[in-house]
Parts: sequence; C-alpha cells; structure tokens
Amino acid sequence: MNILLLGSGGRESALARVIANSKRTEHFFISSGNPGMEEWGKCVSLNGFEEIGSFCQKEKIDILVVGPEQPLVDGIGDYFSEQESLKNIIVVGPNKVAAQLEGSKDFSKDFMFRYNIPTAKYRTFTKDNIQEGKDFLRTLQAPYVLKADGLAAGKGVLILNSLSEAEEELENMLKNEKFGKASAKVVIEEYLSGVECSVFVLTDGDNYILLPEAKDYKRVGEGDTGLNTGGMGSISPVPFCDKTFMQKVEQRIIQPTIEGLKKDKIHYQGFIFFGLMNVKGDPYVIEYNVRMGDPESESVFARFDSDIVEAFELMGKKELDKYQLKISEKTATTVMLCSGGYPENYEKGKIINGLDKVQNAIVYHAGTKKDNENNILTNGGRVLAVTCLADDMQQALNLCYENINKISFDKMYYRKDIGKDLMK
Ligand code: AMP
Ligand code: GLY
Repeated sequence: MNILLLGSGGRESALARVIANSKRTEHFFISSGNPGMEEWGKCVSLNGFEEIGSFCQKEKIDILVVGPEQPLVDGIGDYFSEQESLKNIIVVGPNKVAAQLEGSKDFSKDFMFRYNIPTAKYRTFTKDNIQEGKDFLRTLQAPYVLKADGLAAGKGVLILNSLSEAEEELENMLKNEKFGKASAKVVIEEYLSGVECSVFVLTDGDNYILLPEAKDYKRVGEGDTGLNTGGMGSISPVPFCDKTFMQKVEQRIIQPTIEGLKKDKIHYQGFIFFGLMNVKGDPYVIEYNVRMGDPESESVFARFDSDIVEAFELMGKKELDKYQLKISEKTATTVMLCSGGYPENYEKGKIINGLDKVQNAIVYHAGTKKDNENNILTNGGRVLAVTCLADDMQQALNLCYENINKISFDKMYYRKDIGKDLMK
C-alpha cells in the first residue's frame, strides 16, 4: 500500500511510526511532517486539496490518513470521494457533514440529545437572543461553561466562576466576535464534575475497533494548575477505566453514536475520539473529535501491536469486524517537553541536545525543525514527546524521566507529575 499522511505534530509522529512498522506499507509520504518523522516516511510539502489530490494520483496513493481536524472539517473527504480519479483512495477521516461532530458544538450536542447519549445539559444562543442566554445562565450553578460553536484552535471553551463574568464573556463571544466566526453561536452548558479520560475507536460506519483509552494532562502546571494547553503528557491504560466503566462507555456512548450516525444517514469512516468525564463512575461526553488525540496518540499507539494499515484497508471495505486487534498489556506514558512560556509567548530556534543518548524510549517530534548544519531546533510550544512502555506506570514514568534528563534545550519545561494523580 502507498500511503500519504497529513500533519506534522506529535499525533502524526505516533501514526507515522505504526504506519512505517506495517508490513503492508510500500511507499510512505508525510505532508508536511517534521525532522523526527523522516525516520519513518518521506516528508513532502503539499498545500490545498488540489495539490494533495494530484500528488495522490502521481504517487498512486492507496490510503490518505488525515491527522488533524481542520482538513476534515473543510471537506477533504468529500473532495476525494467526488473526484473520479481519487474516489478509490481510502480516506481515514470522515466527510464534512460527519466532521461537524467536532466542527460544531451545537451539532454535536443536538446529536447527543437526539440519541440519548449522556452529556451535559445545554442550550445554544446567537447574538439575537443574548438575553435568553443570560436567563439560561441564571438557571445553572457556577462554574459556567461557555463554548464557541466552531473550531477555535482549542481555545474556544471558557469556564467561569462568576455569573457576571459569564454574562460578560457571552457578550464578548456573540457581539464582539471574541473567537471570530467560531463564536457566532455559543453553547452554554452545565458544568460536569469528575475526572476526564479519552476513548478512541476506528470505525467503518458499521463496525468499530476499540483502541486503548488514555488520560491527557491538559493544564500547564503541576497539580493540574495554570492555563490549558494542547496536552502536557498522557498515560494508557487508565486505571479507573475498568471493565465496568468501559462497558458503560461502549453501551451508552460508542454504540449509540455509531447507530445514531447511521440513522442520520451520515457515513463515518475514521477515528472517533470521545472526550469523556467520569462522573462518579458514569461516563458523560464532553466533546467528540474526529481525529486522534495529542498527546494521547503517543501513548495509545505505543501499545498497538497489530497492523494499522490492515485496519485501514478493512475499514475501506467496511470489514473492520474481521480485524484482529492486538494491544500490549503494558503501560505507556508520555511526557511533553515544551518551550518555556508555552502556552503563552515562547521562543523558537533553540538547539536540542542529547537526542542521541536516549535509550528504551520513543522520542516523537512535535515542534522541531532542522537547520543547515543538521541541528534539530525547537519550532513550537510543544517540542518533543517522550514515550516509554513498561510493565507498570511507575516503571514507564521512571524511564521517561531518566531519558528526559539526557535531553536539553534552552528554557525547556515539562511537568514532573504526570501520572501521579492515578497512583494515590
Ligand atoms: P472541549 O474543548 O469541549 O474539550 O473543552 C475543553 C475542556 O474544558 C475539557 O477538556 C474540560 O476540561 C473542560 N470542559 C468542557 N466542558 C465541560 C463541562 N461541561 N464540564 C466541565 N468541564 C468541561
Ligand atoms: N489531547 C486533546 C486533544 O487532542 O484534543
């Protein structure tokens, strides 16, 4: 199989590694990739659907794997299925309508309510009914959750402690376009108190395979304090996601989601990421994403012991029920190495040292580039993901932190408490 993977971050690095490890992969390209991914595939730079389409024709691509959500929400799946020359390429990722599960909070909340999928109570408002929005806020208790309807680069969710702040922000989002067009509609929802976890499936629309669950550490500071980030680390498996909990997740959330999409005549193929809140043992959906998670993928795919490309091929044939999934029983842990200052202002272009000293760990590049002398430089907020696999969480974390001690760059920052909350 000839494969093109779109994306350039840690999630795509994790996908690239398992794609490269498949016996079924012949030619493997990544657009745009990063220096770490060069080990696994040929990095190319393609811009826009047309260029991607022409490249797929020229290189006889069989499978297009879409890492991030934006091209899916923009309709890359539809672009491929509508072109005679591209329609036989298996696209891993849903079409534009289905991608609304992530692309529109209003769409996804309406979907969940119609199919009785547990989620927080909500209402959606526009600039024409701000007062009703304020009235609805008064029926809720603090903290107040306000969500921009559309994609807002992960920044569109506000959690506010006071009613007056919530009212002010509602106006900012609707009247002053705080998040641009993304906040032309705002979802206000009930606050759910619990512990979060991430669950993933790969589906062909009828069948699905359940990938390992993971826990993401979103806040920048130790003890889950400070600003939200793209994710500072991850763990898989998650101790509290036991058999009973996962059964509830499958019966109450995954199966009704797949059935609901079918009932709505929405064809879905690709990954679905269920962002869940465990509220006293019961799972609720916080959000859907139409892609894998980052940095969850780094841990999830470290435990993946079967052939991912075979899964993609079976997905294309709607025969995922024939797939033999193999998952390692070991624990994978991931710690992100970030640029000091992230998620606010930070510097780029710092030389990264020590990568050659790493042992018994996977170092996925997330935000790096190469200079003319082949030095690896920092090129983003989240720079590297260090992932280790061991018999238990403590051993995996020890390996991560031992290896991190060998890596350095100016103002490197990472959380030292990944997994600690789960060991109590
Ligand atoms: P989202 O982009 O929808 O995942 O929201 C970002 C983060 O906000 C989530 O990961 C949660 O930590 C938090 N969050 C979102 N919705 C709620 C809610 N209804 N109750 C509590 N926390 C929430
Ligand atoms: N780690 C959360 C996300 O990928 O959205």
